[in-house]
Amino acid sequence: MNIDVVEREAFERLSKVSSAEELEQFRVEFLGKKGKITSLMKNLKNLPPEERPTYGKRVNELREKVEALFREKKKQIEELMEKEKMERMRIDVTIPGARRKVGHSHPVAKIMEEIERIFVAMGFDVVEGPEIETTWYNFDALNTPEWHPARDEHDSFYITDDLLLRTHTSPVQVRTMLERKPPIAIISPGKVYRRDYDATHLPMFHQVEGLHVDKDLSVAHLKFTLEEFARRMFGESAKVRLRPSFFPFTEPSFEVDVYLKGYGWLEILGAGMVDPNVFLSVGYDPEEWTGYAFGMGVERIAMLKYGITDIREFVRNDVRFLSSY
Ligand code: DAH
Repeated sequence: MNIDVVEREAFERLSKVSSAEELEQFRVEFLGKKGKITSLMKNLKNLPPEERPTYGKRVNELREKVEALFREKKKQIEELMEKEKMERMRIDVTIPGARRKVGHSHPVAKIMEEIERIFVAMGFDVVEGPEIETTWYNFDALNTPEWHPARDEHDSFYITDDLLLRTHTSPVQVRTMLERKPPIAIISPGKVYRRDYDATHLPMFHQVEGLHVDKDLSVAHLKFTLEEFARRMFGESAKVRLRPSFFPFTEPSFEVDVYLKGYGWLEILGAGMVDPNVFLSVGYDPEEWTGYAFGMGVERIAMLKYGITDIREFVRNDVRFLSSY
């Protein structure tokens, strides 16, 4: 093949190269081992000896020229690719952000945290107890005799004859008194279980237990603590009412109602002075120690605070309901 033809072809082809792949194709076709310029050189041996030096020189010059242009082109293409890459990576800060949906705590969890904050601020410790409890902690140590309806299979979830899902957080009172020495001031939040299901009862719900043991505590201390709690939870205008009641583990015992403008009275907890028999079952001298205790229903407090009328809303997992609290 003619040197001039190859030269023209090479320049034309190279000028049209616009990508790395095309450049590589060009290199193989012209500069490679079987490429056109290389074959020109192989022609040398077919020429008469006197023409060989000039021919060889021209082919070499051509090769050098094409190689130089090739390097130039290669640089251009690399720069172009770099520029495109930077372009692709550029961040447009004016594009509106993608809004990510973040969830939030369940309304019951929120109320529970609020209750904890209030009591911690009043000097109470937060302790937890197991949800699977023995009948001794759940009933006997709390002065709750064999005949009490709460012990009935129809009201509780038994695992064995003397293991059950705790029906209240009160057993944590017993555990704490056995573990610590008075004075004691604790609250204990957690899940409790009963065989109930209707607009105001769930088979699993939450309670916060409270226990304060010290010398010379009276109903006045209990009443002040609960009033202070109600004011901090529901606002200064909240009123508290103690109604006489009965619990095996307290004497005297009360049902405690909170009054809110627009709602009226709602029962939110049980309370009382720790029964001497409870002190005896943990080895405390009832002549030396006094105490008050209370147990509040967290869902009830959430219902009151948020104006919810059906307790089952809390466990229906309807996002429209949950996201509004
Ligand atoms: N444990 C009781 C219940 O679940 C509530 C209760 C009442 C707790 C009086 C107390 C208390 O600590 O003193 O119904």
